Amino acid sequence: MSEQTRRSFLQKSMMATASAYALSQAGLATSMAEGAQESSGDKLRCAVIGAGGRGGSHISGMLNRKDVVITHICDVDEKTGGRRCEDIGKAQGQKPSWVPDIRKLLDDKSIDFVTIATPNHWHSLAAIYAVQAGKDVYVEKPVSHNVLEGRRLVQVARKHNKIVQTGTQCRSNPGMRDAMAFIHGGGIGDVTIARGLCYKRRKAIGARGEYPVPAGIDYDLWLGPAPKKPLTRPNFHYDWHWQWDYGNGDLGNQGIHQMDLCRWALNKNTIADSVVSYGGRFGYEDAGETANTQIVQLGYGSQQLVFEVRGLETKDYRGANVGIIIEGTKGYLMMSSYDTGVAFDADGKEIKKFKGGGDQHHYANFLDAVRSRDYKKLNADVEEGHLSSALCHLGNISMRMGKPIAGADVPAVLKEHKGHEDMVATFKRTAEHLTANSTDPDTLMFAVGPMLKLDPKAEVFTASAEANTMLTREYRAPYTLPSESEV
Ligand SMILES: NC(=O)c1ccc[n+]([C@@H]2O[C@H](COP(=O)([O-])OP(=O)(O)OC[C@H]3O[C@@H](n4cnc5c(N)ncnc54)[C@H](O)[C@@H]3O)[C@@H](O)[C@H]2O)c1
Repeated sequence: MSEQTRRSFLQKSMMATASAYALSQAGLATSMAEGAQESSGDKLRCAVIGAGGRGGSHISGMLNRKDVVITHICDVDEKTGGRRCEDIGKAQGQKPSWVPDIRKLLDDKSIDFVTIATPNHWHSLAAIYAVQAGKDVYVEKPVSHNVLEGRRLVQVARKHNKIVQTGTQCRSNPGMRDAMAFIHGGGIGDVTIARGLCYKRRKAIGARGEYPVPAGIDYDLWLGPAPKKPLTRPNFHYDWHWQWDYGNGDLGNQGIHQMDLCRWALNKNTIADSVVSYGGRFGYEDAGETANTQIVQLGYGSQQLVFEVRGLETKDYRGANVGIIIEGTKGYLMMSSYDTGVAFDADGKEIKKFKGGGDQHHYANFLDAVRSRDYKKLNADVEEGHLSSALCHLGNISMRMGKPIAGADVPAVLKEHKGHEDMVATFKRTAEHLTANSTDPDTLMFAVGPMLKLDPKAEVFTASAEANTMLTREYRAPYTLPSESEV
C-alpha cells in the first residue's frame, strides 16, 4: 500500500470506526472491532518477524482479523519460514513471502506494520529498525534485553511518530483492567506491597557442550548483536531464554507479565528507586546460566515490589503460582492468571471477583491505535513495556553482581537492607521450598546482590559504576544500537 493509499485507508477506517460507534450507541451489533468492514484491497499489510512458538500466536491473531493480510514471514530458520508461509497461504488464500533477513524485509515499502517474536536479544533492535523504516510495531515482551536499548526504542518511536505496542497482553484483558481500576480506586486501600509470582516448573535443558546448528538456520543472523559464540545448548529454539547473551531468565520470560502488573498496580510511571536481588540455578546442572530461583525486591519510596521466581517443583503461595498478590491497607487482591482474580477485605472476606480475557483484545487495541495514529490509545505502549522490562533487568543486574553466600548466612545479609524487612520472610519461604526439593538451602551458594540505589528519572544507578555498565551490552557490528542523536 502506498503512503497515500495507506493514509486514505486510515482516514476511511477512522470514519468507519466512528459510524460503528454510532451503530453500537444505537444498540445495533457491529463487528467493527475485528475490522469486518474492510474490503480486501484496504487491508493493513503485516509482516511477522520471528515465526516460532509465539510468532505462531501472532499469525493466528492476525488471521482472525478481517482488516489484516499477512504478506511476509521473516525468520532466520528456513524450515519455520517455509512451513508458516504454506499454512498461512492455505488459511488466508494468499501465500506470504519468506524473507530471512529483517533488513531486506524492511526495505519493502508495502508493509504497514510488523509483529516481532524473535528471541529477546533482538527485540529492541528489530523494533528500532522497523520504526526507522516507517512501520508500526507490535513487539513481544520484554521489549529489551537491557535497560538502555529499551529507552532508545521509546525515543525512536516518539521521534518517528510510530505506534509501538508491547506484547504484555494482560494489559488489554477486561478482567485485569477491572482489577486494576478497583485497586486504583482505593478498593483495597493504599497499596503497600505488590507481589509478583513466577512459580513455573522449568526442567534442565541438557548438558552444556558444543552442538551443531540445525540445517537451514542462518546462525550469524540469529546471533545478531550477541557475541559470536558456538551453540552450547542441545535445543536450538526456546532454550536461549536461559542463556544470558540471548535471554533474561524467567524474570524476562514469564515474569515480565507479572512484573508489569505489579508496577501497574503500584501506579508508577518510572523505574524503581532501589533494587536488590539474590538467587541461583539450583537442583540440576545444565547448559542454562540464568537463575531458576530468584527474589527481587524493588523500592518505590515506602512501597515495595517483591518478585519471586521458582523453577523447581513448588506449592502455590496464597492460592497463586503465576500471578500477583497486591496488598493494601484495607485488604488484598489476587490475580491467579492473566485475567481471573479475587479481592478480599482486611478480614479475608471475598469482596469482588474479576474475569475476562483473550489475546484478541490486545491485537484489536494495537490496530485501533494504528488506524487513529494515536499511541496514547495503546494499552501497552512501548514506554510501559520499557519500564517493566527495565525492572526485570535491574533485578538481574543486582543478582549478577552478587557474591556467593551460603544460604545459612543469607538472612543476616538481607537484614542489613533497612526498609526491606520483607526480604527475610521471603527468604525463609524460599529456603523451605528448596528443602522440599531435596536440596539443603543452608549449604547452597546464593548469588546475593548489593542493594543498589537508582535515579528513576535518569534511569541510572547513583553510586555504582559497575552496575551502570550493565545497563547496556557490547553490540556485535553491524548490529549496533544507534545513539540518541542517530535515531
Ligand atoms: N506475550 C506472550 O504471552 C508470549 C508468549 C510466548 C513467548 N513470548 C515472547 O516471544 C518471543 C519468542 O518466543 P518463542 O517461544 O516463540 O521463541 P522461539 O525460539 O520458539 O522462536 C523465535 C523465532 O525467531 C526466529 N528468529 C531468531 N532471530 C531472528 C531474526 N533476527 N529475524 C527473524 N527471525 C528470527 C527463530 O528462528 C525462531 O523461529 C520471546 O521473546 C518471548 O518472550 C511472548
